[in-house]
Amino acid sequence: MRYADLHQRSITDPNGFWMEQAQAIDWARPPSKALFDEAAPLYEWFSDGMVNTCWNAVDRHVEAGRGDQTAIIYDSPITDTKRKITYAELQDRVARLAGALRAKGVEKGDRVIIYMPMIPEALDAMLACARLGAVHSVVFGGFAAHELAVRIDDATPKAIIAASCGLEPGRVVKYKPLLDNAIEQAQHKPDFCVIFQREQETAALTSGRDLDWNACQEGVTPADCVPVEGNHPAYILYTSGTTGQPKGVIRATAGHLVALQWTMKNIYDVEPGEVFWAASDVGWVVGHSYICYAPLITGNTTIVFEGKPVGTPDAGTFWRVISEHKVKSFFTAPTAFRAVKREDPKGAFVTKYDLSCLKTVYLAGERADSDTIIWAQDQLKVPVIDHWWQTETGWAIAANPMGVEALPVKLGSPAVGMPGYNIQVLDEGGQPVSPGTLGAIALKLPLPPGTLPNLWNAEARFRKSYLEQFPGYYATGDAGYMDEDGYIYIMARTDDVINVAGHRLSTGAMEEVLAGHPDVAECAVIGVSDALKGQMPLGFLCLNKGADRAPEDVVKDCVKRVRDQIGPVAAFKLAVVVERLPKTRSGKILRGTMVSIADGQPFKMPATIDDPVILDEIRDALRGLGYAQS
Ligand code: COA
Ligand code: AMP
Repeated sequence: MRYADLHQRSITDPNGFWMEQAQAIDWARPPSKALFDEAAPLYEWFSDGMVNTCWNAVDRHVEAGRGDQTAIIYDSPITDTKRKITYAELQDRVARLAGALRAKGVEKGDRVIIYMPMIPEALDAMLACARLGAVHSVVFGGFAAHELAVRIDDATPKAIIAASCGLEPGRVVKYKPLLDNAIEQAQHKPDFCVIFQREQETAALTSGRDLDWNACQEGVTPADCVPVEGNHPAYILYTSGTTGQPKGVIRATAGHLVALQWTMKNIYDVEPGEVFWAASDVGWVVGHSYICYAPLITGNTTIVFEGKPVGTPDAGTFWRVISEHKVKSFFTAPTAFRAVKREDPKGAFVTKYDLSCLKTVYLAGERADSDTIIWAQDQLKVPVIDHWWQTETGWAIAANPMGVEALPVKLGSPAVGMPGYNIQVLDEGGQPVSPGTLGAIALKLPLPPGTLPNLWNAEARFRKSYLEQFPGYYATGDAGYMDEDGYIYIMARTDDVINVAGHRLSTGAMEEVLAGHPDVAECAVIGVSDALKGQMPLGFLCLNKGADRAPEDVVKDCVKRVRDQIGPVAAFKLAVVVERLPKTRSGKILRGTMVSIADGQPFKMPATIDDPVILDEIRDALRGLGYAQS
């Protein structure tokens, strides 16, 4: 079936379409139907089926005789390590860890926080939870203790699984002090922690609470897979919203399995046994879906890469890994390519490797600029496919379905809606706009399987954030337009979320941290354009009269505060002290106008501005930082 027919069918006959895809999954009890719409606008998929994620990702491949196939390749240029783990070995590792967790009381439905770097043990931990029906919540290693504490209080985990450290170029990130600090800050206390000791850092274990990863597995009975209901949460993944309280996106088990399985052949064009690599981190949704779950569910070989696009050791690392491990489809963020391009614009490293195994490259996580796509196409001589999705959806909303039909590539567009996604561009009143007209991008309900059914502990927020703005639709928070051929173009966010090096961050959360400084009376954080990272956060600080500290010291304090409270990943390094912030007469800070000034873009003077002179002051302050050059 060609794309257009397939997509049409997924919209007009969702039950038929998704029940067919569900046949690729092993069920303990097959579902009676696909869509459960009784509680609309809250929808569920395959709710009455019984299924286990780990069985589908690991055990069934061993049972089918593929136990000797490599499941995971660990390639760590940072530690100079390469290791292969077969499906049979993975089954053993995961069953033992799950057995150890069960022996300590972890059962179906219990939450487990995972705070680990890019090592295979992170996947073991995720799969061990899945094996028991426990709900994992992975926290990215670049977040600070406070962010971890917020997630501990929201998810109320029975256990936390962590490594002793992560490794950043030139720096060992000790996780244990961060973990201890987070547990101290949190109201909720886990029953126990499991610590994986890495050779680069041996953490002191807290007696009575912390268990050693290896020791706790000794002598335990390996755990079998526990079938769970189709709507049972597989995991919670926190993502940035408009405030400091992150949103806990729930992923329901069965829809996740069915949708991810569909994507591997149809979007990423890989068959079981082939090598797929997503160069992301397990702390992000890309890592959940495409480092851990989807490749394993489909029986591919996945790569756990602990390194950076440049500097570990050079800008040829990606090409080395692709060539050495015979990667067929490669997924990364545009920022990563911009980093490589900046160091190796002519692709000297590309020519050093035999990349004939590589068939397609996929980009997501942020807007893919045409220069980067063209550069990558020229260097790699394969299609470079932009695709668009979010933590909430768990898989691509729009893509070029290379395994179904390679549609013409249009630069600047992540192409067309994937099955079950009915993409509409709406005006402020919720009416569809004509092709080429900018508007809010919304998805007509129901969303397809694999997407979020709700937010953890926050149904009212779920409804308010996503469902209420346009009744009958899910509001994506992205704005853009659609062309005559149904290709979507993603232009901007409609909220205070910014995207820094493919990482989704909340300016609102940063403002909360800055506002906590005793000398800061008022503040605003905006995302300014950055040639490498896409956007960078930039803070404006208004100080209290008679502030204790000099303005330059307050700036330094604020940079440190964001790093300490949100984490280094916020990349908050720029702030400036100003007298006043530009506002409307009703007191709303004109952040959009400030972004235009910073980026040197023309803008319309807001009719409701309180005092236009303030914009000149803002421009002067920005010029002092090298921005606002028109
Ligand atoms: N643990 C601890 N710290 C981390 C971290 C982690 N897992 N990941 C990043 N950090 C730190 C970095 O060390 C850096 O700290 P610094 O301020 O001391 O230098 C800071 O967070 C910012 O990191 P990053 O935004 O990654 O910038 P960078 O300058 O280190 O690297 C790139 C720039 C472009 C090479 C890098 O951002 C990159 O590879 N981006 C691709 C992102 C990606 O794959 N995203 C996934 C979405 S699909
Ligand atoms: P995250 O939830 O971290 O995956 O971030 C999702 C957000 O990143 C989206 O809502 C978009 O704003 C942005 N994004 C992701 N992929 C793309 C893309 N291909 N093009 C433009 N923006 C993207």
